[in-house]
Amino acid sequence: MPRILITGCDEGIGRGFATTCLADGWEVLATYRDVANKLPEAPRLTDFQLDVTEIAQFKKVKAVIGDLPIDLLVSNAAIAHDPMVLGSLDFDFGRRILDTNTLGPLRLVETFVDNVAASEQRKIVMITSRMGSIAANISGGHYVYRASKAGLNAMARSLAIDLFKRGIIVTMLHPGGVRTRGGSEKAPLTVEQSVQGMRDVIDRLGLHETGQYYSYSGMPLAW
Ligand SMILES: NC(=O)c1ccc[n+]([C@@H]2O[C@H](COP(=O)([O-])OP(=O)(O)OC[C@H]3O[C@@H](n4cnc5c(N)ncnc54)[C@H](OP(=O)(O)O)[C@@H]3O)[C@@H](O)[C@H]2O)c1
Repeated sequence: MPRILITGCDEGIGRGFATTCLADGWEVLATYRDVANKLPEAPRLTDFQLDVTEIAQFKKVKAVIGDLPIDLLVSNAAIAHDPMVLGSLDFDFGRRILDTNTLGPLRLVETFVDNVAASEQRKIVMITSRMGSIAANISGGHYVYRASKAGLNAMARSLAIDLFKRGIIVTMLHPGGVRTRGGSEKAPLTVEQSVQGMRDVIDRLGLHETGQYYSYSGMPLAW
């Protein structure tokens, strides 16, 4: 059975990914910002403490899993809201958003790229957002969240180019508008619908599609 490592399983989309992969028989390496939020014990589930801003915590996880192949590496953890408005910007919070949403995924790949290369499926998925699309921005605001996801997209595109020769697929996925704490109560999708859509897209991915930016339904998005 394939193996997934996913960040930010405390709640929301990350938890949904971990739960459905487990139900389908995958081996799941679930990471949590606070391991007190871990999923109920289950066969094939291993839990790890991982704050994606802390490189030392990545090293601890790597020391435990060693050279274990990882078929699907999913960067999900993020600060999924940015209510700041011009005139009262909180630059410390802004720095935390960038550190989490943009540098966090890079720390993840830096740590586990060899595990992905050693697997059969060799897939890296960045959970990004349509808010990272500069072309689709017609509503303004959310300065730092948008920048964090646009930066993530730029970075992931470079990773796709650099990792192509190792047979690794790197894809950016927008989960849609999802009813989570980070999303909106009025969002159209449940976690289950979003995760099912993304998993279908991931299952179909081939190396020819590396570096693409898709919605949860597989629709290409404008940069
Ligand atoms: N929901 C949507 O409509 C939507 C739309 C577009 C994109 N997304 C993206 O989808 C992903 C999941 O979002 P969600 O809606 O499930 O939001 P969520 O419910 O807020 O979940 C995000 C998770 O990331 C964790 N996290 C935050 N900072 C972290 C850190 N430094 N280290 C490790 N974990 C950290 C959070 O933990 P804490 O609770 O401890 O902060 C939380 O468990 C994010 O990448 C988000 O940007 C969501």
